[in-house]
Amino acid sequence: TRPLKVALLGCGVVGSEVARIMTTHAADLAARIGAPVELAGVAVRRPDKVREGIPAELITTDATALVKRGDIDVVVELIGGIEPARSLITTAFEHGASVVSANKALLAQDGAGLHAIAEEQNKDLYYEAAVAGAIPLIRPLRESLAGDKVNRVLGIVNGTTNFILDKMDSTGAGYQEALDEASALGYAEADPTADVEGFDAAAKAAILAGIAFHTRVGLDDVYREGMTEVTAADFASAKGMGCTIKLLAICERAADGGSVTARVHPAMIPLAHPLASVRGAYNAVFVESDAAGQLMFYGPGAGGAPTASAVLGDLVAVCRNRISGATGPGASAYTQLPVSPMGEVVTRY
Ligand code: NDP
Ligand code: HSE
Repeated sequence: TRPLKVALLGCGVVGSEVARIMTTHAADLAARIGAPVELAGVAVRRPDKVREGIPAELITTDATALVKRGDIDVVVELIGGIEPARSLITTAFEHGASVVSANKALLAQDGAGLHAIAEEQNKDLYYEAAVAGAIPLIRPLRESLAGDKVNRVLGIVNGTTNFILDKMDSTGAGYQEALDEASALGYAEADPTADVEGFDAAAKAAILAGIAFHTRVGLDDVYREGMTEVTAADFASAKGMGCTIKLLAICERAADGGSVTARVHPAMIPLAHPLASVRGAYNAVFVESDAAGQLMFYGPGAGGAPTASAVLGDLVAVCRNRISGATGPGASAYTQLPVSPMGEVVTRY
């Protein structure tokens, strides 16, 4: 079978790990896919930066030319942000490639539009890594629970803020010191405001609510409150009440099934609750459904290698589809449910 060609857009925290694993696990990946996978080009911003293990001739600053080549099977978008990521993904579909992305900001803003283009071109759009790092969550919601009725998705979906809150609570570290450490470890977004002000968790909540409830939820539909105002004194009062503080994303279907709500805000969690023991950049998400009852998904929610694991899982799935000529599940058939405004939400801690 001919090798499948992969274009990597972005070779930072996540992209460099994807490239590394594609090389070190090449034989295993080929066996699982049924064909070798070849890195055909790597688009970056700074061509002169040393990138261990990546042949210099693969590096380009012209991402558009790379996705327009016409011989690329899969474009893996790990640049982040809205543009040029959106145009590159669209161009990739138009030039015959399927796409794997970890870009929650873009998917929350225009997932429906990108799915529509993918479907028009009969191509795949996979993004397991966009929500909760290594934790399989998109596929379980989209596929394993497709026959059930999900009523609630609730949990910790941002590793950076959990890392900061955990450090503040357990070691008394200051906010800025803990944020700097999270950035150095590769957990934070390029602009960490996205993490600490709750935009990243809100994007993930929008994606999760859309898939779980088979409707469209935009970023603006999600009530959002960050964690920048949580202080050491808040932790002390929480402790006095047998609680800690976590930044939660909560997506719910109304009891009558007629609307949904999604919100992100700091919340007091009783110390005996499993969410209270989620440490560092780990994430944990509860899914409640009619038939399955309560499921808990737990694991590393950020960082290069954990996120690369989810990206590579998607890469394997998309490559298998290229060989079989199938496409995976697209945007699920949906009914547009009203997303209820949260009204005035008072701080909960
Ligand atoms: P980084 O900032 O570490 O890497 C971004 C990469 O994109 C860099 O290689 C950069 O090039 C390249 N780049 C930026 N602009 C351009 C451009 N115009 N053309 C070509 N290349 C460009 O980000 P991450 O790896 O942390 O994140 C990538 C994506 O994965 C984002 O969508 C993020 O939200 C998502 N994600 C990140 C996780 C994490 O833990 N870090 C976890 C889950 C998802 P150069 O190297 O030259 O600067
Ligand atoms: N900045 C994100 C986080 C990366 O900290 O959760 C993973 O999506």
